[in-house]
Formats: sequence, structure tokens, C-alpha cells
Amino acid sequence: MKVDVLLGLQWGDEGKGKIVDVLTPEYDIIARFQGGPNAGHTIEFDDKKFILHTIPSGIFNEKTINIIGNGVIIDAYIFNKELINLKNNNIDAEKNLLISKKAHLILPTHRLLDATYENAKGKSKIGSTLKGIGPAYTDKTARDGIRIGNINNPDFKKNYNNLKQKHLQIIDFYKFDYTEYLIDGLLFSEYEEKWFEAIEKIRTLKTIDSEYFINQSLKNNKSILAEGAQGTLLDVDFGSYPFVTSSNTITAGVCIGLGVAPNRIGNVFGVFKAYCTRVGSGPFPTELSDETGEKLRDKGNEFGSTTGRPRRCGWLDITALKYSIMLNGVTSLIMTKADVLNHFENINISTKYKYNNDIIDYIPFELPDEKLNPDYNILKGWNTSIDNITSFDNIPAELSDYINFIEHQVGIPIKIISVGPDRKQIIRK
Ligand code: GDP
Ligand code: IMO
Ligand code: MG
Repeated sequence: MKVDVLLGLQWGDEGKGKIVDVLTPEYDIIARFQGGPNAGHTIEFDDKKFILHTIPSGIFNEKTINIIGNGVIIDAYIFNKELINLKNNNIDAEKNLLISKKAHLILPTHRLLDATYENAKGKSKIGSTLKGIGPAYTDKTARDGIRIGNINNPDFKKNYNNLKQKHLQIIDFYKFDYTEYLIDGLLFSEYEEKWFEAIEKIRTLKTIDSEYFINQSLKNNKSILAEGAQGTLLDVDFGSYPFVTSSNTITAGVCIGLGVAPNRIGNVFGVFKAYCTRVGSGPFPTELSDETGEKLRDKGNEFGSTTGRPRRCGWLDITALKYSIMLNGVTSLIMTKADVLNHFENINISTKYKYNNDIIDYIPFELPDEKLNPDYNILKGWNTSIDNITSFDNIPAELSDYINFIEHQVGIPIKIISVGPDRKQIIRK
């Protein structure tokens, strides 16, 4: 067997969580391979809504094993809150949840550091989710990190304190006064206390050598879906650096973040919104700062699942989509939030950029917004609700044209269309 991959092709929030939940019945195992609680994956069914940050989106299916892979970073406190929320909703997440011993921990001081660095950057800040992602991955590559498998070591507390001291020295250097700084509404000392309570909880959970588990599962013909977080254009190597996250969000990240060899990768499902959004700073060529952008935000309810921040909105960008498809080896596409375009007379799609008096169809090394302008094709909107359509045969002709146009541009079929946040609002082709 091979590992199938599902990941985002834009700047995150493409609706990955919903689609993983929809596909989960087809898989034995769902595994997160990178990122941490910067992710917010929303799943809706039976009039209930869940937002997962660390736990894979297959958790709502009792038969599925969910793995938090070595490439993920875990904030014990946030993770525990997710567990408690699921438990309060009668979902026994612990039964089917396995955590890699090699996954790194986000310490409370990583969160302070994230705030320190963002403050210091001033106007050029990344727009980080302030979940400690950059600092925790930095410690991982600096070989200073603490892993889940270390929490039962006798010197765990000593290592924690050493790392904490290092962080506090940096924070002191930047003169960041954190005495009144709130981390998710808590003072640092309160957060730290709850973080350690959560570590106690993690001590009771199942931790594994996930690379062995996953490869053995493949040998035993188990089907596995790797669930991406963030999006391709936030990849630390290929995204719009430095306005990126600190992990490899692309298919290659699956090999690193789960320990599967490249020749073990199977289908790659690329999820994209029928338009574009971005939260945080950085270039966004098709961004709309007018009432059309407002309309997209309003209809699409485009506010961050993790931070509540308004998302920047714009039209679909084919150049960026082709770039993402290339980097990931996408084999089929999944288009979400098509329903958000229900009531637009016309829908624009950028197929190329106008750049320094040239027309280009690649992403230049630097993306200075003022020099890079989208070259739009204008398609007719369908101007009707598609929210309750479940069969591809019943979609309006204009939506069919929109799909055909995209497929023709990128050369990859769109196999699933999502027409609402609920699990049932899905059209398969
Ligand atoms: P993720 O991070 O990729 O899992 O996406 P998020 O959960 O952060 O953001 C997607 C948002 O859109 C969530 O609020 C979902 O409930 C919602 N959503 C997902 N698919 C659809 C869809 O097809 N239509 C609409 N209207 N909303 C959707
Ligand atoms: P999901 O998995 C959207 C963005 C942040 C910021 C940049 C760096 O829900 O799609 P970080 O906290 O990682 O240092 O922030 O990346 N970002 C996301 N944007 N969806 C996400 O995850 C994101 N995770 C990080 O807004 O611009
Ligand atoms: Mg999200």
C-alpha cells in the first residue's frame, strides 16, 4: 500500500479538515505530518462544529486510527483542551489516538518568544498565529528541542528549565515585558501550570515509534491518508518567504514528517478554495481590497479558525495553483467553498501576471504587489444556490464551465466539489 496525501494548495484554510472527515471512512489511518496548533481544521456535522488544532480530522470515525506524526509540534495545553472538548461532546479521542515519540513540544516560553520576535519586527511582522511555531521548530533544528518521548525521562524537568532559561534570556535581550502578557487569556505562570497538567495527561496516552508503525501498517495493507496543515504557499522553502510558516507543508513533508519513503506516496489530493484567502502578512497578487473582497469575506465567513482574524480575500490565482500542483505532484483536485460564489454576476480568474510590462505565468523570486498584477479572465457566475446539490449532474452550466476552465488551465481533474461546511455538502464527480 501507499500513503495518500491531502493538503492545501493556497495559503491555508482551504477546508482540509472538512474533506479529511469526508474521506475518512475510506481509510484505516489518518496522520498529521507537520505544523502544530497554528492549524485550525473545522468539521461540521449533525449541527455540531469542531475546530481541531493538533488532533487529526479522522477522529470522528470510531474505526479510524489517528496519528500525530513526528513532524508535528505539540502544545500540551492546547492539545489537552482539544481532548477535553471532544470528551465533553462524547467523542472518545484517546482510544484511537497515537502520538509519535519524536514529535516536539511547544513550551510556554516558545509562545513568549513568538510574541517577542513579532513585536521586534514591528511593521514587517509575519502575522504569526503566536502559537510558538517558529521558535519551536527553530529549537528542533538547533537540536535543543524536547520531544514527547522525553517526558518520562527523569531529567525532563531539568531539560525544560534549561530551555526555558535560554528563552528567558532572549526575551530579556529584546526587553519584552511579559509579566502582563496573556497567552490564550492566561498569564505566563498560569499557562505554564496548565501546560504541566496537560503533560501529565499526555503521560497516560499511547505514544509510538510512528515511523515503524506506519511502515508496518503499509505492509499489512492498511490504507493511510496524510493530512496537511497550512498550505503550499506557506511552505518554509517554497512559500512567499519570509511570510511563511516554519515547516514543509508540501508532499515532501509527508516523507519527513511521517518517515515514509518517497516511493511510498500514492494519490495526492490538492484542496483549493474556489477563490483565494490569506491571513497574516505577505504578498497576495489577486487580493481584492474593495467591496467584492468584502463580499467574499462576508459570504465565505472568512475569519480565522485559530485566531478569529479577518482573512484577506481575492480571486482564484491559476499561476499559484499550477505552482502548487507542480510542487506536490497533485493527482486530483478538490475545490471547496464553491457555494460562496453563488451570487456573483461575474467571476474573475487570474491566469497570468502582468509583471514589469511582461506577461508571465510563473511566480517570481520576490512578489512585490505593486509591480505584479493579475491578468483576469472573466467567467459568468451561476447566480443561484448550489448548497443542496449532491450530484454532479445537477450543477448549473456556469459552474460546470468554471470547473472545466480550471481543469483545462491546470491539467488535473477536479474530483470533489464542496458546497457548504457540513459533511453532507459534497459533490463527487
Ligand atoms: P482548514 O484549515 O483547511 O481545515 O480550513 P478551516 O477550517 O480553517 O477553514 C475553512 C472554513 O470554511 C471552515 O469554517 C469550514 O467550516 C468552512 N467550509 C469548508 N468547506 C466549505 C464549503 O464548501 N463551503 C462553505 N461555505 N464553507 C466551507
Ligand atoms: P490551517 O492548517 C492559514 C499563517 C499565519 C501567518 C503565517 C505564519 O488551518 O490551514 P505561524 O503561526 O505558522 O508562524 O504563522 O502562516 N498560518 C496559517 N494561515 N491557515 C493555517 O493553518 C495557518 N497556519 C499558519 O497566519 O501568516
Ligand atoms: Mg484552518
